[in-house]
Amino acid sequence: MSSIPRHVAVIMDGNGRWAQQRGLPRLAGHEQGSKSIRQCVEACMEAGVEFLTLYAFSSENWKRPALEVNGLMLLLEKFLNEKKEEMLREGVRLRAIGRLDDLPKACRVKLDEVRDATAHNTRLNVILALSYSGRVEILDAIQSVVAEAAAGTLGPGDITPELISSHLYTAGIPDPDLLIRTSGEMRISNFLLWQLSYTEIHVTKKLWPDFGKADFLEALQDFSSRQRRYGGV
Ligand code: IPE
Ligand code: IPE
Ligand code: MG
Repeated sequence: MSSIPRHVAVIMDGNGRWAQQRGLPRLAGHEQGSKSIRQCVEACMEAGVEFLTLYAFSSENWKRPALEVNGLMLLLEKFLNEKKEEMLREGVRLRAIGRLDDLPKACRVKLDEVRDATAHNTRLNVILALSYSGRVEILDAIQSVVAEAAAGTLGPGDITPELISSHLYTAGIPDPDLLIRTSGEMRISNFLLWQLSYTEIHVTKKLWPDFGKADFLEALQDFSSRQRRYGGV
């Protein structure tokens, strides 16, 4: 493949529709969807992608019925429990972005545990976006910039795009080169608003639980055919 994206971000959408089509509860779709993650991680390791950011739960998703929200939180805990050893073995570093304090204590504790245990791994960075909102991320960055300005350590001229980037949850992580959205929706849904400014977008009609390694590799193939101009000629 001619060019491999360093960073792929994924909006894992369509779990509910997958379940609905089979007459199953929405949670069955989420459960099946969590299996697609393994497929994408494998594809990233084979292709040499360095960062994989997965939109797992948005700030807006708290609006869903309690049964679904609680089920998703339990699924997250189960996922972390089951995958910890595998991540350690395979050199995966796990991180999370979002308002992590909103998560139930048990998830938060588990997340910290797996993050710390895998912190030295370098083969692939998997970043989970949890209770994540792109607008809130920008607000949080502005608040910390303003706090520094008020303390006198920053002047107006110091506020550059690089400075803003360094105050985001994704500080130190390169912007995504490729964004994949499953289930056909043509929108960003409050994901990585600052970071996606020049990201290539690949939308597939496949629902997330049906999205496998071959689909991920197809998205990489699509990416390699793009001509990125960044406003130039
Ligand atoms: C994505 O699938 C998973 C989360 C948002 C947590 P959805 O649950 O949004 O599935 P659809 O869009 O209803 O099919
Ligand atoms: C985006 O999917 C959030 C995640 C995949 C976690 P949604 O299903 O919540 O987005 P909308 O409501 O279709 O925009
Ligand atoms: Mg959806």
